[in-house]
Amino acid sequence: MNLTLGLDLGGSSIKAGAVDVTAGRVVGELESVPTPPGATPAATQDALASLVSRFPQCRGTVGLAFPSVVKNGIAYSAANIDKGWIGLDASRLLTSAAGRPGLVVNDADAAGVAEMRIGAGRGTRGVVMMLTFGTGIGSALFVDGRLWPNSELGHLEMDGREAEELASARVRTVEKLDWPAWCERVNRVLAGYHVLFWPDLFIIGGGVSERWEEFGGMLRSPARIVPAVLRQTAGVVGAAFYAAEHVAT
Ligand code: BGC
Repeated sequence: MNLTLGLDLGGSSIKAGAVDVTAGRVVGELESVPTPPGATPAATQDALASLVSRFPQCRGTVGLAFPSVVKNGIAYSAANIDKGWIGLDASRLLTSAAGRPGLVVNDADAAGVAEMRIGAGRGTRGVVMMLTFGTGIGSALFVDGRLWPNSELGHLEMDGREAEELASARVRTVEKLDWPAWCERVNRVLAGYHVLFWPDLFIIGGGVSERWEEFGGMLRSPARIVPAVLRQTAGVVGAAFYAAEHVAT
């Protein structure tokens, strides 16, 4: 079996998994290490190296889902990570950490690609918006299954605040919002996106989607709303898909 290593850098942990990209599933357990405080490039490189060394069974290019605008391996933003990433060749850093070719992609795009291919968006045509609620709000926009990369809709301003400052999962925790209060904010964000993009389907992902049963019924939009199927593995699986399909330079 051909296993590809997928990594996903989140606000609290970096997850890693061996992915069978033909079947589209994680083989064995996910491993994780805490995200280094501030997620500086140097500390992150060490953490990535230690995770990669736990997966000797994986071959070829390593993929990393990363919370930044990423174009040709370069990180262009750093909303929730150390500003030292801006302008840095993140793919090259991953390559050094892994000791073999590394490929970095926006985390929401990675999760979205995985959900479109083998999860909640499978076979869905039209406009699909995958949203990840975590430290920030990530977005991945698809038209007839094709990705518009780096859409960054978590930074769209609503009611004088960026959407992710209003309704990320982190804000729910920090402001101690109960589910109805948080869902009211998420609904405001969904309405803001709907009026501009008219999606046919919203896929709700990120760590909080593990608790869908507690809040999913309170979300409202003229578009269909479904939870992400791959839950916490979406970033890892999507990053592995990218790694398996793109040749790192
Ligand atoms: C970042 C995005 C990322 C999202 C989710 C935002 O703050 O700008 O690049 O996809 O958080 O991690």
